[in-house]
Amino acid sequence: MLSALARPAGAALRRSFSTSAQNNAKVAVLGASGGIGQPLSLLLKNSPLVSRLTLYDIAHTPGVAADLSHIETRATVKGYLGPEQLPDCLKGCDVVVIPAGVPRKPGMTRDDLFNTNATIVATLAAACAQHCPEAMICIIANPVNSTIPITAEVFKKHGVYNPNRIFGVTTLDIVRANTFVAELKGLDPARVNVPVIGGHAGKTIIPLISQCTPKVDFPQDQLAALTGRIQEAGTEVVKAKAGAGSATLSMAYAGARFVFSLLDAMNGKEGVVECSFVQSQEADSSYFSTPLLLGKKGLEKNLGIGKVSRCSAKAPSTPRSSRRGSLAWNLPLPPKRCPPLPSQQSAEGAPAALRPRPPVSSPVNQGHLPPGVVPRVPAQCPLPTCPHKGLQSTGHPCCFIHSDHS
Ligand SMILES: NC(=O)c1ccc[n+]([C@@H]2O[C@H](COP(=O)([O-])OP(=O)(O)OC[C@H]3O[C@@H](n4cnc5c(N)ncnc54)[C@H](O)[C@@H]3O)[C@@H](O)[C@H]2O)c1
Repeated sequence: MLSALARPAGAALRRSFSTSAQNNAKVAVLGASGGIGQPLSLLLKNSPLVSRLTLYDIAHTPGVAADLSHIETRATVKGYLGPEQLPDCLKGCDVVVIPAGVPRKPGMTRDDLFNTNATIVATLAAACAQHCPEAMICIIANPVNSTIPITAEVFKKHGVYNPNRIFGVTTLDIVRANTFVAELKGLDPARVNVPVIGGHAGKTIIPLISQCTPKVDFPQDQLAALTGRIQEAGTEVVKAKAGAGSATLSMAYAGARFVFSLLDAMNGKEGVVECSFVQSQEADSSYFSTPLLLGKKGLEKNLGIGKVSRCSAKAPSTPRSSRRGSLAWNLPLPPKRCPPLPSQQSAEGAPAALRPRPPVSSPVNQGHLPPGVVPRVPAQCPLPTCPHKGLQSTGHPCCFIHSDHS
C-alpha cells in the first residue's frame, strides 16, 4: 500500500517550480535568517503554492526579506524582527516552519542542543498556539525527538492541541537514504524512495531498506554500512563544515519538500505520503516517525511501520550515545505518567521502539534511569509559563514534560 501511495522523492519540489500549480498558502519561517532559514525561504518564495511569506528572526530579517522580495514570483515577503513583531508574523498563517535554534558543532550530539533549543522552540510554539492555533507546525530545530513533544505540551497548555497538525521534519533522513541507495545502485535518486522511521538522532533513525522502491538488495555488510551512513549523515556534514554548523542547504531542500507535500495535500491532492515524527501509537514511544498519508487537515492516516525485515529490525544497536538519544525520544508520555526507560535492546536485537508497548504496571514504567545513563535534562524548566521556572530539575525526564510544568 505504501509503495502504491508513495511518489518519487522530490516530485513535490519539482512540481512546485512548475507554473501550473496554484495556491494561496500563507507560510511563516521562524529562524528565517539562519543557515537553513535563508535557503528554505528562497525555495518557498520560488513556489507558486505560496502567496504570502512572513519571515521572523531575532536578527537580520529586514535584509533577508528585502533581498527575497525582489524575486519575480508572486509571493509577498515581509520580515519581522524581535518578539514584539512575532504575533503579526504569525496571524493568518496556514503553515509555520521552525528552523530557529543553534546547530551542532563537531563533537556534539543533537541532544547537546537541548537546553538552548528547547527554550527557543517552546517560546515560539507558545506564540503559534496563541496567534495561529490552526496552522500546521513543522519543526526543524533539533533535537526533533524532544522539540516535538515540547511543542505538543505547549499547545495542550493553551488548549489548542491537534496532533494531526504538529510535525517533526525528518525528511532529510529520507532524502539522504534515497541519495545513498541511488549512488550504490546506479539509480536516479529522484526515483528512489526509502521510508525512514523512528526518531531523528543517531541510532533512532531507522531506514527501511527492505521497503525501498524500487526494490533493492544489498549484502549484509553493505547494508550495515549503508544504514550506519544514513544514521550518521548529519555528523558527516558537521565534521566537513568544521565548526561552521550542520546541514543547511540539504535541510532547506528537505524542509521545502515536506512543506510542498503538505500544501499539496491541504490543496486536496490525494495519495501524498511523507515520513514525519508525530504523536503516534505505532511503537513503544509516544512520538515516532512513520510514513503518513497527508490530507486537507494535516495527518490523515498513519500508515505505520509496515513489514520490517530482520535486518532492519536488527540494524540499530544501543551504545550509550543512542541511549541518550532515546532518553529524549522517550520524554513525551502523557502528563502524570512516567516515561519508559531509555531504549534497551531485546535479546533478538530489535530496537525497543519496535517492540510492543509494555503493560502500564511493568517495572520499566517506574521512571528510574538505569545505571550509567546521565539524564539529559535542563537545569530549569524550558517552558516559558512554567510556575517552577528557576527550580532545579529533579532529574526525571517527566518533571518538565509533566502538566504541572507545561
Ligand atoms: N531536522 C533536521 O533534519 C535538521 C537538519 C539540520 C539542522 N537542524 C537544526 O536546525 C536548527 C537551525 O540550524 P541552522 O543551521 O539554520 O542554524 P543557524 O544558527 O544558522 O540559524 C538559526 C537561526 O535561528 C535564529 N534564532 C535563534 N533564536 C531565535 C529565537 N528565539 N527566535 C527566532 N529565531 C531565533 C538565529 O538568529 C538564526 O538566524 C538547529 O537546531 C539544527 O540542529 C535540523
